[in-house]
Amino acid sequence: MGAIYEKCFRPWLFRQDAEKAHEHALTSLQTLAGVQPLCSLLAWANRVNGARPIELFGLKFPNAVGLAAGFDKNALAWRAAPALGFGHVEIGTVTLHAQPGNARPRMFRLPEEEALINRLGFPNDGAEAVALRLAKFPSRRRAIPLGINLGKSKTVPLEQAANDYLASFNLLADHADYFVINVSSPNTPELRRLQTQEFLPGLLKLMRKSARDRAKKLGARPAPLLLKIAPDLSFAEIDLILATVAEHELEGLIATNTTVSRPGLAGETEGGGLSGRPLHPRVVEIIRFVSLATKGKLPIIGCGGVLEPSDAHRLMDNGASLIQIYTGLVYRGPFFARELAHALSWRHREWV
Ligand SMILES: Cc1cc2nc3c(=O)[nH]c(=O)nc-3n(C[C@H](O)[C@H](O)[C@H](O)COP(=O)(O)O)c2cc1C
Repeated sequence: MGAIYEKCFRPWLFRQDAEKAHEHALTSLQTLAGVQPLCSLLAWANRVNGARPIELFGLKFPNAVGLAAGFDKNALAWRAAPALGFGHVEIGTVTLHAQPGNARPRMFRLPEEEALINRLGFPNDGAEAVALRLAKFPSRRRAIPLGINLGKSKTVPLEQAANDYLASFNLLADHADYFVINVSSPNTPELRRLQTQEFLPGLLKLMRKSARDRAKKLGARPAPLLLKIAPDLSFAEIDLILATVAEHELEGLIATNTTVSRPGLAGETEGGGLSGRPLHPRVVEIIRFVSLATKGKLPIIGCGGVLEPSDAHRLMDNGASLIQIYTGLVYRGPFFARELAHALSWRHREWV
């Protein structure tokens, strides 16, 4: 299936502007999501036979492969994710205020490197509109866990960022299984400073407390909170982040977002965050570091440059509990999640 995509569909898609091609893919998935009996049938056909669900922070994941944030920013197509074989899906980044993002063009392919560069800048409809969209689909009807990735609105200064995240969380809290505090996208000015000790403790404290207070009021379990970090941090910086994550008892880490560095790339490139194959070695290093530093106790979702099943195994061998893909979907096509889920499934087999 992957070979057919790479020979027939990819050349056609790659003749289009990268963001336009993405919009076509999203519209196709949105159409598929509208035909739920077909989605259910495909999800059944693409299930991973014999594998135990992966239990993590109180959630059950039918397989290890998730759709990374950024693909479905506005919760338009996420219900089609199980049909492609995904075991979880993360929508967003959603910000409190609707915003258009940066000027186009802002998404670029590097086919030789099997990479992408984007400087989208969180274009999205805003938390209220996304909440209204998600409210139509009650959580009990979800086939796989749904995460919402939260970011800071561009117009909000860093000093008010914590309240901006919190306001988005309050609007969306009923509509997802886990939340991601995204402080690592390179395309919102200053956003990554939220990873420093100047801002991170205050942000995590407020989010943790609010999630707990809300759960107490409802008599429910607090929503798992994860932090998504950048690959450009030093190990010393990651150590400080891990201490803060432990102090505020976050449930996990997503490693990593796109990089502002250009590993192995010669010459001028577009500005923005690089994803795909060149990012992978750094992601492996970071996952290994976090896993050793936390003695394997902090769940890690590994994300970055998974373009072959061996890449997914490498992330898990080094300490990831789940993986996510974005660029791999662009280069390997819609059946890639299923291929990865099957390749990883022996790790979660029921031996009977
Ligand atoms: C076009 C594009 C848009 C993205 N948008 C977001 C986003 O809104 N929020 C986020 O946390 N990550 C975003 N990402 C980062 C991905 O979720 C992922 O962390 C990164 O691309 C590395 O994974 P990959 O190599 O499999 O693509 C985006 C990536 C791409 C390529």
